[in-house]
Amino acid sequence: MHILVTGGAGYIGSHTCIALIEAGHSVVVIDDFSNSHIEALKRVEGICNTEIPHYEGDVGDEELLRRVFSEHTFDGVIHFAGSKAVGESVEKPMLYYRNNVTASQTLIETMHEAGVHTLVFSSSATVYGDPQTVPIVEDFPVGATNPYGRSKLMVEQIIQDFATSTAQFNGIILRYFNPVGAHPCGRIGEDPSGIPNNLMPFIAQVAVGKRSHLAVFGDDYPTIDGTGVRDYIHVCDLAEGHVRALEQLHGKPGSHCFNLGTGSGVSVLEMVEAYEKASDRPIPYQIAPRRPGDVAQCYANSGHAKAVLGWQATRTLEDMVKDSWRWQSSNPNGYLEA
Ligand code: WQD
Repeated sequence: MHILVTGGAGYIGSHTCIALIEAGHSVVVIDDFSNSHIEALKRVEGICNTEIPHYEGDVGDEELLRRVFSEHTFDGVIHFAGSKAVGESVEKPMLYYRNNVTASQTLIETMHEAGVHTLVFSSSATVYGDPQTVPIVEDFPVGATNPYGRSKLMVEQIIQDFATSTAQFNGIILRYFNPVGAHPCGRIGEDPSGIPNNLMPFIAQVAVGKRSHLAVFGDDYPTIDGTGVRDYIHVCDLAEGHVRALEQLHGKPGSHCFNLGTGSGVSVLEMVEAYEKASDRPIPYQIAPRRPGDVAQCYANSGHAKAVLGWQATRTLEDMVKDSWRWQSSNPNGYLEA
């Protein structure tokens, strides 16, 4: 299939481009490079030994989108482009609603006019808010607690309503848990700008000497060791989940929703220990106050994805930290060194 990948130069987007190409598909990327690097795309071309046509710009730019759809005949779209920092979304809600909701609506309307009916949407476990119990199933109540999560929920609802009103439309919602790690070749990986919000990239920067220590946000949660428990999933497993969703559901109109997680929870301190073992570097940490909005535990029941897509995560925590360290230690300053 010929697939448009929005945000294809980003962390999950670049890994998914590799998975698509390795599965025999062809890709075109649109990315504004506001939170990604053209170098990532060049490295994906090198890894896959193939050229990837790309357009630099905003998915909310209708004129640009019309040009992209006029120059290619796509079988589907995977939509990663958007803003993704919870804390920033609280400070700049209108930016998040413009980048994540308005732009997604423009994409859906423009692709439909172009006769492209299959959309895979990058959603997030954050739509569940603070789950009553774990593991989380897709029909659990949703209730995001920040503008980022609410923007994801709004797009999910736009997809569901459009699928109800439009017979040919096929909307596939993938709710990611916590994507981590890197492609085993060590050439691409997570490269957040500024101070990392997320745990794994922060730990990686401590290990490589860019940060002095990790602040552990709370050790008094009702969990195995008092620190937050999350469902960390290898980014390559996540990428393969996108390919499988496209291949299994292409041509099956409607709206579909899947949790993409491992089904296992790992605490902050367990992650620290795993990373120290993989990197053979100390990860000094200090206990800090809880981070507002954090929940104690969040991990998936991904049985629906296994049953319908025939997909399940296969990579272990050890794979995640080893692959992350290979990327980080080979690229201490991310893509900037290129
Ligand atoms: C994980 C655990 C923290 C940093 C968020 C978004 C979610 C998705 C993934 C986009 C928590 C603890 C973290 C640190 C710490 N993003 N932590 N010190 O909050 O589960 O999910 O990122 O799609 O939508 O909500 O991930 O990596 O920020 O935190 O102790 O410096 O690590 O308290 O328990 P989170 P995270």
